[in-house]
Amino acid sequence: INKIGVFTSGGDAPGMNACIRAVVRTGLYLGKQMVGIHQGYQGMIDKKFSNMDSKSVAHIIQQGGTILKTARCMEFRTPEGRALAYKNLKEEGIDALVAIGGDGTFTGAELLSREYDMPVMCVPGTIDNDLYGTDFTLGYDTATNTVIEAIDKIRDTAASHDRLFFVEVMGRDSGCIALRAGVAAGAEAILLPEKETGIDDLIEKLEAGADQHKTSSIVIIAEGEKNGGAYNVAKHVKEKFNFYDIKVTILGHLQRGGTPSSFDRILASRMGYAAVNALIAGETRKMVGLQGNAMHLTELTEAINNHSFKLEDDLMEMSYILSL
Ligand code: F6P
Repeated sequence: INKIGVFTSGGDAPGMNACIRAVVRTGLYLGKQMVGIHQGYQGMIDKKFSNMDSKSVAHIIQQGGTILKTARCMEFRTPEGRALAYKNLKEEGIDALVAIGGDGTFTGAELLSREYDMPVMCVPGTIDNDLYGTDFTLGYDTATNTVIEAIDKIRDTAASHDRLFFVEVMGRDSGCIALRAGVAAGAEAILLPEKETGIDDLIEKLEAGADQHKTSSIVIIAEGEKNGGAYNVAKHVKEKFNFYDIKVTILGHLQRGGTPSSFDRILASRMGYAAVNALIAGETRKMVGLQGNAMHLTELTEAINNHSFKLEDDLMEMSYILSL
């Protein structure tokens, strides 16, 4: 391996820049040429390559987003798209790849690598923390801290006005942010994609709180939850339970931005370093992950096929008990 390409793909996540920095500087240290591929798979198709030296990744460890930009690319999903991407990579002299992203990114990397025998190493980057083979994904810690900070603020105004707030957080398929932020911010109820909660059950919980003289409450709703999102839940609750004045807040994309936490910066540095070293050691089609505070490699196919996050039973149980 002489020339390694690095790219970010799928939804951005705080810590991606710290990881790009680690990948570039580890590769340079090992005598490799490093190339940044802009806008993920789209950049391979559109030949958006730029050589990266140590200076090109200076002062980015603390920046949210990704300096390489990111995209979701439909063309790459076709064999023709991948053929063109491979042709462009070869012309550029790139002979190995580090991909930072989620399961869609992994699927693309696995296909390209298998079809064209291109060595690839993946780094799990998504705020959703729903990837198999790693205890944490890049960006999850920062996003959860952002959510907690927002809920703390909402709590102030909810308490001042005796209101019930429904706060919607990100997580199309994963309730990880909702559950953990809910425990950390003391939410009265948490609705998750992984667990169906009927409106009547929710009302029962809220009534129990009201009986205990709670004058305000916060319910966290993961966007992929089955009742159809915060506005729908609020509407249905309002029809049957009007003890509180009800408000809705959708946190949205602010959860994806911001300066990465110390945890994400260190995780990103560790994963970027491990990814390049694994490639040089001859590994391919794997994902680097953190398991019990050590770096582990997981086969990409295994990571893709097991794509999901198992919510911790103790957190599920305690989230309710501790909010009573
Ligand atoms: O996968 C990360 C994520 O932020 C999800 O939580 C969310 O559902 C999705 O991306 C939003 O994607 P987009 O930014 O394309 O709207």
